[in-house]
Amino acid sequence: MIHIQIDGRSMEAKEGTTILSLAGRLHIPIPTLCFHESLSPFGACRLCTVEVKRGKKWELTTSCDTAIGPEMVIRTDSPAIRKSRKMAAELLYFKYPGTKLIRDTAEKLGVRVKKSQENSRDCILCGMCVRTCREVVEVNALRFEDRGPDHPGEPPRIGYIGDSCICCGACAFACPTGYIRMEPYGDENRRVIWDRVFEMAACRICGRRFAPLAQLEYLSRKAGLPLAQFMTCISCREAESQTRMVDEKDWISCHA
Ligand code: FES
Repeated sequence: MIHIQIDGRSMEAKEGTTILSLAGRLHIPIPTLCFHESLSPFGACRLCTVEVKRGKKWELTTSCDTAIGPEMVIRTDSPAIRKSRKMAAELLYFKYPGTKLIRDTAEKLGVRVKKSQENSRDCILCGMCVRTCREVVEVNALRFEDRGPDHPGEPPRIGYIGDSCICCGACAFACPTGYIRMEPYGDENRRVIWDRVFEMAACRICGRRFAPLAQLEYLSRKAGLPLAQFMTCISCREAESQTRMVDEKDWISCHA
């Protein structure tokens, strides 16, 4: 444990904890956009800015990816912090004025926004999809492209590596604006995500199409088990296990 000060309160805290998570535990509100507690911090939106005292000077820093250190002095509200958060929100609003999430966030942070019912499904480059794919699903089918000195002047975007994708839909689930969508493609036999069409596997018992085949193949590879073991839908699996339980009961009563 280390000693720190946050908003004038002295306390002991665990070294390595981020300022954002410490603030969360103390119920100090800090706005965020690109942060999710299940994913590694990304530090892209800069809405979570706070100030840390270095010598006699206060320095702005993003709280989601800054760990606390011994004797750190932090403040989470000041005119400089409010100005910085507002500027970051203004920039986002300038880029994505049609996205409701951005409009609402910007308005909360003091940006004057035009009232609108529009809700366009823009990619706001929050990186949730890339991190979910990499860190939760462990597939790496998404990556940031056109970033860094090798791509001067090119806007960053999310790149899709179709060969690695298993059509699990986790990126669509994590996307906060609905930019990524997984939808039926024509009929229930196929799904489309990121413009790639995937075949849905048929349950070996009822024949219902229940999961993308690529996803089942991935699970089979990962678990080191035959694909056949994954080719049963949840309803049939449950029915099978009920039958097994009944059989076991019969066996027990016969041998009692
Ligand atoms: S939430 Fe910290 S930079 Fe986006």
